[in-house]
Parts: sequence; structure tokens; C-alpha cells
Amino acid sequence: GDNVLYLAHKHGIDLEGACEASLACSTCHVYVRSDYYDKLPQSEEREDDMLDMAPMLQENSRLGCQII
Ligand code: FES
Repeated sequence: GDNVLYLAHKHGIDLEGACEASLACSTCHVYVRSDYYDKLPQSEEREDDMLDMAPMLQENSRLGCQII
């Protein structure tokens, strides 16, 4: 589907996404601009659990494959 990971790949942006959106990695980690971050639906617990393993976690971190 048209999640941020998919869109990144479509536009030639180097974002790994090793597990192909099955919430089993954190390699699709992205930082979301704060004005957009506030507009996204909240992350669910499974996303947060994977995000906790992402390097360089920030307040505006999300998993790209979960942003639709
Ligand atoms: Fe693995 Fe997003 S691609 S959690």
C-alpha cells in the first residue's frame, strides 16, 4: 500500500524496510516533521515496541511502513 516506506522506494529514497511492513524490524525508521507528526494517528503499541529498538530515537520518530 501507499505507506511512507512504499513511497520512499517509489521515489528512489534509500530507506531499508527489511521486514516489508510486518513490524518485525526498525529499519524503516523515519523522523516526521513536527507539523505533520501531530496530524498522524497515534502509533500503536506494536510500532512503539519496534521503535524502541531503533537507533537515534527522537520524539518525532515513527516507522515509515506504519505511516499511511
Ligand atoms: Fe520493518 Fe517497517 S519495514 S517495521
